[in-house]
Amino acid sequence: MSTIDLKPLRKQFPALQKVDNGRARIFLDGAGGTQVPQMVIDAMLDYFINTNANYGGYYKTSMATDEMLINIRKDVADFINAASWKEIILGPNMTTLTFNLAWALSRDLKPGDEVVITRLDHGANMDAWKTLKDRGAVIRYIEVNTDDCSLDYQMASQVINDKTKLVAVGLASNAVGNINDVIRLAALAHNAGALVFADAVHYAPHFPIDVMKLECDFLVYSAYKCFGPHVGFLWGKKEHLTRINPYRPWPVDDKVPQKYNLGTPNMEGFAGARAAVDYIAGIGVDYGQKFKNTLPAFKGKRLDLKTGMAAVAEYELGLSKLLFKGLKDIKGVNVYGITDIERFDERCPTFSFTMDGLTSADICRKMSGEDIYVWNGEDGLGALELVEYLDVVKIGGLLRVSIEHYNTEAEINRFLEVLDSLSGK
Ligand SMILES: Cc1ncc(COP(=O)(O)O)c(C=O)c1O
Repeated sequence: MSTIDLKPLRKQFPALQKVDNGRARIFLDGAGGTQVPQMVIDAMLDYFINTNANYGGYYKTSMATDEMLINIRKDVADFINAASWKEIILGPNMTTLTFNLAWALSRDLKPGDEVVITRLDHGANMDAWKTLKDRGAVIRYIEVNTDDCSLDYQMASQVINDKTKLVAVGLASNAVGNINDVIRLAALAHNAGALVFADAVHYAPHFPIDVMKLECDFLVYSAYKCFGPHVGFLWGKKEHLTRINPYRPWPVDDKVPQKYNLGTPNMEGFAGARAAVDYIAGIGVDYGQKFKNTLPAFKGKRLDLKTGMAAVAEYELGLSKLLFKGLKDIKGVNVYGITDIERFDERCPTFSFTMDGLTSADICRKMSGEDIYVWNGEDGLGALELVEYLDVVKIGGLLRVSIEHYNTEAEINRFLEVLDSLSGK
């Protein structure tokens, strides 16, 4: 029995109340972007009405904006358990932050230096690093095992060597849901003297994050996959953020975070993102009590955020099992990623599959006709290299169903019922 009570929780999301053709919309595409609670919308409205200004000025609204920009960094530091809020950089999204960091780090590269990426990752966490080939870097891959899409850690221990300067890896795959053993890769990388960059975009809405435990050097995630607006965050260890010299206007200003700013930040977005963090802490206060004694290292808001995400993870595991058991019983469905229920703690509630006789776009259109929103993957779900490697593009790509904690058992059952009606039985 889960601790989360969905009724009051779902009420907080205006989008979840929308009804078309007499039916409530069913959002099963959290991996593409989550819905937002009213408190996020209110915070953005409040920003526009009460404190809208450019930052760095000497009048009231500008000073309030400066304070808000500090507070969102404190909130994100709490969410990911950073040593200091000064280690948080604000940006428009994960992709922009990652490309900018890659170009900044390229200043230190020599021809022949190696950068390691994985075949499982989102394109943003591959292509940013692949641009370093222009600086003479050699890009090396950690491949995936085709049976369960897990990373080949044996191969990782050979690929990561004393020429490696950076290892870029996702905490979880947005395409098939697998969670990666980033701690293991970080140990290999650090033994080789390399930096570790972790993409937490897909993992962040599902599990607690603790950058101190992960042992990585950088971590990125985006608020819009985590119940907030379209903004992103980069965390980096203080010594790296201070040393790195990003490309920017006014290069004379070498302070953190100013030197990482490319233009005016999305203030209303960061105001909304603050409320999204508060929303998660609220889940901790309301439903996270039973996890408290498993988290002795945390106090205050950090504890509420951790217990909130623990409650989310527990609830989502139940929905994952329900969905997967249903998928297994439908004729012609082939699920990718980890399919052993005993190992579901190694995956997110994100399931991608092919279905005999139908492309992913066919299924999406039919689902949309039933007011069920899922994502079609003929263009790769952002993880094109993986999808090509799995050789599923020619059969119409992977259909992705991605669950969030605001989804219900009834929604999963309805999705399964419609899918079953489409199967060629
Ligand atoms: C795992 C993963 N990494 C990176 C990205 C890119 O994030 P953004 O849209 O914030 O640039 C996405 C977007 O879907 C993603 O799922």
